[in-house]
Amino acid sequence: MTLVVPDILTAAAASREASAPLVRLRGVKKSFGPARTAVHALRGIDLDVHPRELLLVVGPSGCGKTTMLSIISGVLNPTAGEVDVFGCAWSTLSEDAKARRRGELLGFVFQEFRLIPTLDTLENVMAPLLIGHVPWTEAAGRAAEMLARVGLGKRLHARPRELSGGMQQRVSIARALVTRPRMLVCDEPTANLDSGTGQVVMDLIRDAAREPDAQGRPRCVIVVTHDNRIFHYADRIERMEDGRIVSGGVPGGAGGTGGAGELGGHGEKKESS
Ligand SMILES: Nc1ncnc2c1ncn2[C@@H]1O[C@H](COP(=O)(O)OP(=O)(O)OP(=O)(O)O)[C@@H](O)[C@H]1O
Ligand SMILES: [Mg+2]
Repeated sequence: MTLVVPDILTAAAASREASAPLVRLRGVKKSFGPARTAVHALRGIDLDVHPRELLLVVGPSGCGKTTMLSIISGVLNPTAGEVDVFGCAWSTLSEDAKARRRGELLGFVFQEFRLIPTLDTLENVMAPLLIGHVPWTEAAGRAAEMLARVGLGKRLHARPRELSGGMQQRVSIARALVTRPRMLVCDEPTANLDSGTGQVVMDLIRDAAREPDAQGRPRCVIVVTHDNRIFHYADRIERMEDGRIVSGGVPGGAGGTGGAGELGGHGEKKESS
């Protein structure tokens, strides 16, 4: 007998899938060093990041923000807990498969830029496209266009050492955005930028959350920041302290111990899951 699935059930399943979290952390812990002297960088993180969401993570220096981003990106393995990205647990993949998946799906803005010193600005931004087998001429065109959008259209052939910290930061942002990655992970993307340039960059980062990827799939963005000038870009702000998420909510939400609740504005507080 053929089972006929009513349209309404198919539609409900599709809608559930469309709103399912793209990133899901459960009970994630990370310690560094031998047990007796271990640094407990993450002490049990539960976090969901939803389709089209721009999530900001704030918290004092050393609270574990970069460690959490590295674990979400599959660069570091957690000591305990599960990390699921686009429906696949990092723990089920080999190191090679993780590297391939990162290249295909993720874009990074690192706290310390990590530009390749021997390549010029244009070549640094072309690199992820060439690794993804985009033909040279197309890669050069897309990289030049992205560099123009971050205000570096006239510095295509400068080496990183010839650029200011803010310019290097913009190159690293162009490099992260140029592939239209499914998930963008940014560590302090505006730390070295004046407010005008920071706004241009945050507009691009917000577009990356809102616009679908090259295959029409929803994307998401996670930004770690100390920069309160960009808090209003967030759909949600989570505050970390001492390896834990202690409060969260929409920007300017009513609650939170010195977190999103202090940002001013409106919206309701939402506990992190
Ligand atoms: N590779 C490592 N080996 C040992 N300890 C580490 C390592 N990486 C991070 N830590 C420690 O883990 C804790 C969290 O570090 P992390 O870099 O995640 O903090 P953060 O919130 O990003 O800080 P900041 O705002 O200064 O960038 C710190 O105590 C740090 O010293
Ligand atoms: Mg950090």
